[in-house]
Amino acid sequence: MEFSMIFMISFSVLILCSSLAYGQVAMSTNPTPSPSPAPAPTPAYTNIKDLLSVAGPYHKFLGYLESTKLIDTFQIQANNTVEGITIFVPKDSAFKALTKPSLSNLTDDQFKSVLLYHALPRYYALADFNDLSEKGPISTLAGGQYTLQFNDESGTVRLDSGWSKTKVTSAVHTSKPVAVYQIDKVLLPEAIFGTDIPPTPAPAPALGIGPSADTPSAAKSEETGSSSKPSFSGSSSPRIMMNSGIWTQLVLAFLGGWLVLFF
Ligand SMILES: *[C@@H]1O[C@H](CO)[C@@H](O)[C@H](O)[C@H]1NC(C)=O
Ligand SMILES: *[C@@H]1O[C@H](CO)[C@@H](O)[C@H](O)[C@H]1NC(C)=O
Repeated sequence: MEFSMIFMISFSVLILCSSLAYGQVAMSTNPTPSPSPAPAPTPAYTNIKDLLSVAGPYHKFLGYLESTKLIDTFQIQANNTVEGITIFVPKDSAFKALTKPSLSNLTDDQFKSVLLYHALPRYYALADFNDLSEKGPISTLAGGQYTLQFNDESGTVRLDSGWSKTKVTSAVHTSKPVAVYQIDKVLLPEAIFGTDIPPTPAPAPALGIGPSADTPSAAKSEETGSSSKPSFSGSSSPRIMMNSGIWTQLVLAFLGGWLVLFF
């Protein structure tokens, strides 16, 4: 019995520490741009970070990719798929100009989706956009409901998010497997901005895929906006990380109950 109590106590202390650390990580990784050192580019593959840091005034976008770790998602897509990747990068001034719907009120999930919305999971040369514009809404890296409509009007590639429109203003890099195009404005997905900024509860499908019944949706996305943000530690499903936070609390409560019983 004593052994199991010692075990219980040390276990709960461990959980407590780890959840504190988890909280700190979550706090410290706000999506602020960070200065980017540019190591020498290697010719064998396209280093997206290096590319963006030298190609133009894309420090905001790159900074966001780095702080969310989505730069890895982009690079893995470039490294490990035959399809490659196409990135639409807004200039720094485009982020500056974006004041009306602010990005700062988004949840971490939503913010990541906005960034992923700026890439297609496939390499497209400029000439491909004519075909692409015939095909209707095209899915982006952000997933199914995050689509872009292309329109190629005599060589000008226009992008329509359903909520905002912009156009390609220059081809920054077009060499398989990585295409990078500069755009005029930040792309705002209708799936997020189509409704008012704190999303209305009813119609919007939740960002997570899980069928779990943990979605009192609107209230939740507002709450998670402030302190209990999921950390940016991985490029995959933040919803699971939020659940792990809840689990940690459940386990803590459970252990607390045991301790009270034993003392
Ligand atoms: C991509 O490939 C390069 C060269 O093989 C490698 O150095 C880099 O770590 C890879 N990056 C990722 C995220 O897989
Ligand atoms: C963002 O939130 C702040 C306070 O939480 C609010 O004052 C501001 O109007 C919001 N901005 C938008 C664009 O919703």
